[in-house]
Amino acid sequence: MLVTIPDVLKPEEVAHVRRVLESTDWVDGRVTAGDQAVKVKNNLQVPIDAPAAQELGQIILRALADNATFMTAALPLRVLPPMFNRYDVGMTFGAHVDGSIRAPHGQRMRTDVSSTLFLTPPEDYDGGELVVHDTYGTHTVKLPAGHMVVYPATSMHSVTPVTRGSRWASFFWTQSMVRDDWRRHMLYDLDRSIMSIRSRLPDDDPAVVGLAAHYHNLIRHWAET
Ligand code: NI
Repeated sequence: MLVTIPDVLKPEEVAHVRRVLESTDWVDGRVTAGDQAVKVKNNLQVPIDAPAAQELGQIILRALADNATFMTAALPLRVLPPMFNRYDVGMTFGAHVDGSIRAPHGQRMRTDVSSTLFLTPPEDYDGGELVVHDTYGTHTVKLPAGHMVVYPATSMHSVTPVTRGSRWASFFWTQSMVRDDWRRHMLYDLDRSIMSIRSRLPDDDPAVVGLAAHYHNLIRHWAET
């Protein structure tokens, strides 16, 4: 399941993030790539322990905590510290699957959901599309600055070469309470249907109460915490 989430960051937050990133040091993105990805990865990243990455990461984590769509789509148990990357002209990231386990601060976490938060307006660069392959085909994603896409970390994906401008983004992983993408997808659809019914029926209507109970009991059944 691939979900795009608009307006995760407000325009003034995007502007602040970009201002801080403009004066930070970037290093070769291969430092965090695994054996296979390192051969197809060509971009720049802010070092994960750089003060700028930590300050900006907090802004993003706060925004995610307030974002109902992210919460219901990802069902987060833990969100890894957001990272920041950039693709200048000629840079690209070939097909790969993200590493399954990461250990920020020494604590091992499983990557269930991948997120890309776009930080450059699409009109400012050419190329740089995120291409995600899933069971339903190929999705090409290029979003306004401040918007985000979440997709299963099990998906093969790539970033097409940038041919003009520079594409900046934040990317990070989430360990979900529900590791299976198909179950997360069903819970997401059910939650959206409940929201839709609640806009038309009172909250004490037996259909609303019954569906809400069903949603919570499925979470109870499937969640690992
Ligand atoms: Ni990736």
